Amino acid sequence: MELISENLKKIKPSPTMVITAKARELKLKGENVISLSSGEPDFDTPDHIKEAAIKAIKDGHTKYTNVEGIPELKEAIINKFKNDNHIEFDKDEVIVSVGGKQILFNSLFATLNPTDEVIIPTPYWVSYPDMTLLAGGIPKFLDCKIENDFKINPNDLDKIISQNTKWLIINSPSNPSGSCYTKQELEAIANVLRIHQQVNVITDDIYEYLLYDEFTFYTLAEIAPDLKERILTVNGVSKSYCMTGWRIGYAAGRKDLVKAMIKIQGQSTSNPSSISQYAALAGIEGSRDFLLPCLEAFDKRRKLVVNELNSIDGIKCMMPKGAFYAYPNVKGILGRKTDKGQVLSNDTEVTEWLLENAKVAAVPGVAFGLEPFFRVSYATNFEILEEALNNIKTCVEKLS
Ligand SMILES: Cc1ncc(COP(=O)(O)O)c(C=O)c1O
Repeated sequence: MELISENLKKIKPSPTMVITAKARELKLKGENVISLSSGEPDFDTPDHIKEAAIKAIKDGHTKYTNVEGIPELKEAIINKFKNDNHIEFDKDEVIVSVGGKQILFNSLFATLNPTDEVIIPTPYWVSYPDMTLLAGGIPKFLDCKIENDFKINPNDLDKIISQNTKWLIINSPSNPSGSCYTKQELEAIANVLRIHQQVNVITDDIYEYLLYDEFTFYTLAEIAPDLKERILTVNGVSKSYCMTGWRIGYAAGRKDLVKAMIKIQGQSTSNPSSISQYAALAGIEGSRDFLLPCLEAFDKRRKLVVNELNSIDGIKCMMPKGAFYAYPNVKGILGRKTDKGQVLSNDTEVTEWLLENAKVAAVPGVAFGLEPFFRVSYATNFEILEEALNNIKTCVEKLS
């Protein structure tokens, strides 16, 4: 009898693994490979958050907590939604989980039946389609073009919705493109959703505080309060508080959905780490001034990356408004020949070739459902980024 389940076969191995494995191989050979594939800030967790965790241990907060999170943290999350996003939630409308990932996993597992469809705009964060498939749903991909800054065109959204559409996932600021939705753009999406009452929305706001050019963040539930019952607003401390390893994410939405998500969590992980919850509490309740130098550094790197990429013949890159990623288009490079006579025909080949020749590891667009692109993470220091971009430029110039 086969050990691995049929369900798991629906998921393809991650295309990022190919690049990661090759980068590791080159590093083992002693090559100086620069990784631009990181999905986490390169800044340390702020001291006041670490101190809160140490205090939690010393105070004996080392036991199981409520499955859905400690009341103090839920209260802080309610206040966060009220103050930052002007949305009111009750305690039974909030859940804390093991990272944003478990929130998404819980919500999809709690709701999807075999014919249910989930609209996933491309380029997407890599886990949305696979989580949908694992939960037994059907991913429906909605292409978002570079000409539209990788954002949803409301007419295209209207067309792709069917009677089986259960969810639409919106991720702003976006991983991998760094695009952010304006108030007007969200209003246009809300207008489409008002026509299709069967559609619910997950808004993944995990990069909410990582914004540039004084961009003002809005989340759908804030600008369309009439749709609040159909929206699950997802957030977490991983990216904005430099806390990826602490594993705390949270969400707020209608009571029956949150109750169902708690049920799944109660039968899987139970509560997220008690210590991490106290650390997250200190983060959410504390000042976010620590973010200012981080944002300044990210902003400088963002401009460096985008300007340098755009100076390379064959590469076109949009200036992202948020997160710490850039998503350059490499269409202009396809069809060109390497010094070994290989014709580069897709973004996987481009990133593999860059890794071997420029010694730079980046993730191909195929991993995010929109080709031909690659994702650059600029959560790496300025000098290293300069070196990486210089290497890329030198290599691309040698193509014929
Ligand atoms: C768009 C998006 N959502 C959710 C997550 C998951 O975050 P966490 O580390 O809190 O599970 C990530 C992490 O890469 C992400 O990029």
